[in-house]
Amino acid sequence: MTQQPTRTAVVTGGTSGIGLAVVRLLAAQRHRVFLGARDGDQVAATVEELRAEGLDVDGAALDVRSGERIGDFVRAAVDAHGTVDVLVNNAGRSGGGVTADLADELWDDVISTNLTSVFLVTREVLNAGGMRGKDRGRIINIASTAGKQGVVLGAPYSASKHGVVGFTKALGNELAPTGITVNAVCPGYVETPMAQRVRQGYAAAYDTTEAAILEKFRAKIPLGRYSTPEEVAGLVGYLASDTAASITAQALNVCGGLGNF
Ligand SMILES: NC(=O)c1ccc[n+]([C@@H]2O[C@H](COP(=O)([O-])OP(=O)(O)OC[C@H]3O[C@@H](n4cnc5c(N)ncnc54)[C@H](OP(=O)(O)O)[C@@H]3O)[C@@H](O)[C@H]2O)c1
Repeated sequence: MTQQPTRTAVVTGGTSGIGLAVVRLLAAQRHRVFLGARDGDQVAATVEELRAEGLDVDGAALDVRSGERIGDFVRAAVDAHGTVDVLVNNAGRSGGGVTADLADELWDDVISTNLTSVFLVTREVLNAGGMRGKDRGRIINIASTAGKQGVVLGAPYSASKHGVVGFTKALGNELAPTGITVNAVCPGYVETPMAQRVRQGYAAAYDTTEAAILEKFRAKIPLGRYSTPEEVAGLVGYLASDTAASITAQALNVCGGLGNF
C-alpha cells in the first residue's frame, strides 16, 4: 500500500471529545496537525500528551469568535507546519432553552461560535493558510444531525448547524473545480463532555434526572447507543484521504441511524 504524503491539518476545538479524536486519527494518518482551543494550558497539555504518543502535533490558543485570534492562530499553524492542506472546523458549543425566553447574548454566542466561526476560519485558511493556491484541499465542518432536523429547546443550536450545512454545500459547489472538497460531518449523539452538559441541561429543563434523559435519548437511536468520538473521527479521516476526492458539498451522518436523511 502506498503511504500518503505528509500534509498539514488544522483542527479547531482539538482538546476534547470529537476534536481530540480527529487530531489523533489525522496525526496517525501522517498529517502534521495544528490544534486550537480557548484554554491555552489545555492546548499545551494535549500537545504534550500526543507528542508522547509519537504524533506530530502542535497547537496554540484560539477563540473562534474572534477574527484577530483566528488570524494569529492560522499564522502560527503555517509557521509551525507549512501551508494548510486539511481544515477541520470542529469547535462548537451547545445552547438553547425555551425560545421565547432566550437572551440575545445566548443566541449571538451560539451563532458566533458554531456558524460565523466556520466562515471566518475557512476564509483565513484559504488566504493566509495558503489553501486557495493549492490544487488539492479538504475542508471538513463538524455540523450535527441538528443541522438537518429541528431539536426541541435547541433553536439557536439547530439554526447554527443548519447554517453550517448550507455554507458547506455552497462552498463545496464553488470550490469543486479547484480540487478542494468541502463536506459536513453530522454526528447524532456522541459521548463527550458536551454530551454530558446537554443531558444536564435537559434534566434541569424537564425536572428529571440525567440518567432518565440518557435513557430517553438512547431509546431514540436505532443502534441503541451513543456514537463514539473515534467513530466520528473515522469519517473525517476518510474525507481527508485521496480516495474521497469526488465527495464534496455533502452532509454525512454518523448517528447510529438517528437520522435517515
Ligand atoms: N457530542 C455530541 O453529541 C455532538 C453531536 C453533534 C455535533 N457535535 C459537534 O461536534 C463538535 C465537537 O463537540 P464535542 O462534543 O466534542 O464538544 P466538547 O467535548 O465540549 O469539545 C469542544 C471543543 O471545542 C473547544 N471550543 C469551544 N468553544 C470554542 C471557541 N469559542 N473557540 C475555540 N475552541 C472552542 C473546546 O475547548 P475550550 O473550551 O478550551 O475552548 C473543546 O476543545 C461541536 O461542533 C459540536 O456541536 C457534537
